[in-house]
Amino acid sequence: METQKTIRNIFQEFITKPPQIFKNRDVLTSEFTPETIYHRNKEINTIASILAPSLKGARPSNIFIYGLTGTGKTLVSKHIAEELEKISSQGNFPVKVLYINCKMKKISDTEYRLVTELTRMLGYNLPTTGLPTDYIYQTFFNALDSEKRIIILILDEIDALVEKMGDEFLYNLTRINQDLKQAKLSIIGITNDLHFIEILDPRVKSSLREEEVLFIPYNATQLHDILKHRAQLAFVEEALSEEVIPKCAALAAQEHGDARRALDLLRVAGEIAERMGDNKVTEKHVDMAQEKIDYDRIIESTKVLPKQTKVVLWAILELAETKRDDIQTGDVYDIYQKKCKEIGLYPLTQRRISDLISELDMAGIINAKVTSLGRYGRTRVIMFNLSEPIKQKIKAILNESLVV
Ligand SMILES: Nc1ncnc2c1ncn2[C@@H]1O[C@H](COP(=O)(O)OP(=O)(O)O)[C@@H](O)[C@H]1O
Ligand SMILES: [Mg+2]
Repeated sequence: METQKTIRNIFQEFITKPPQIFKNRDVLTSEFTPETIYHRNKEINTIASILAPSLKGARPSNIFIYGLTGTGKTLVSKHIAEELEKISSQGNFPVKVLYINCKMKKISDTEYRLVTELTRMLGYNLPTTGLPTDYIYQTFFNALDSEKRIIILILDEIDALVEKMGDEFLYNLTRINQDLKQAKLSIIGITNDLHFIEILDPRVKSSLREEEVLFIPYNATQLHDILKHRAQLAFVEEALSEEVIPKCAALAAQEHGDARRALDLLRVAGEIAERMGDNKVTEKHVDMAQEKIDYDRIIESTKVLPKQTKVVLWAILELAETKRDDIQTGDVYDIYQKKCKEIGLYPLTQRRISDLISELDMAGIINAKVTSLGRYGRTRVIMFNLSEPIKQKIKAILNESLVV
């Protein structure tokens, strides 16, 4: 009896004890949609004005929205789309919005999947495989036209779509209005990739870009506002020390003004404090959060590197152990070749290796800087400045996958 009582007390205490750090952690995850959008009035007004004619039955221009990650593109577009659908349902010209994230597997892996998914969104079910492409296209077309209204198709992360299936599909979409009798289609393409538009076929480029809207990164003050309001919902009162939000905002602003990064920092800092049993989140937890996020990101990107790039990284690590400061492409290439031989991989040219080194640099795994040698031309100096634990972990991943 006595023990039973004790157990009950423990459980009871656990249930009734107020949470120490978080009131609602989910508010800081990417699934959460905030009620208020800060510092994006200009962008919202521009996009809303472009789309407004749809409320009178006219086809709005296609819009190309671009900007670095975490600048609010997805949030803003979905928000405007919802408002538009709501208001249009009260008027004479109903508007339908279809939203697709092209990075989502199973939905936009192939043209077939994408078209079936769009058709399904319009209320027609098609089998997920097996029909001729012409047939599903025709069904999609009929489904669209039977809508008798303006349809706005949001293709988020549109670069992923083009990467998977080329720009033929987009070309067809931008021409579809020539054949539609009753419906009209407008496209909103969104990308984080600032150079994406350059790779498109000129005809696709010009129709996708009838209007374009750039989302510039947030500065520290703006990130501060975004975080402050979210933190009020997420944390119990007094759980955040004063310097935490400014610090998260400043760190994220340094990177590139990424609101997602700022929110991640705040969330992970809270999680770390909670796990350590601290009842206040402090600057120290933010530093640890920064380290953890970097660690996770780099480990994840190392795991998915193509094999050749893994060998290049392996060679850089080998050199970093001995030479530290000024690793050059030529040195990397020598070791790379030896390793290729050892594991039976066909070596690429030094020029290609140069490209792979740039890719590693872009992924943030190494630092490669071009420096001038005065009249002897230019060379690239590679540095590997990650902490020892990350280095060890990367090594383990590489050794595991680089075997004969
Ligand atoms: N202006 C803003 N106000 C409030 N929250 C924002 C704002 N901009 C971005 N966020 C939040 O930051 C995160 C990233 O925004 P998102 O729209 O996904 O960026 P993008 O699509 O440009 O990569 C989301 O959690 C979003 O809710
Ligand atoms: Mg987005």
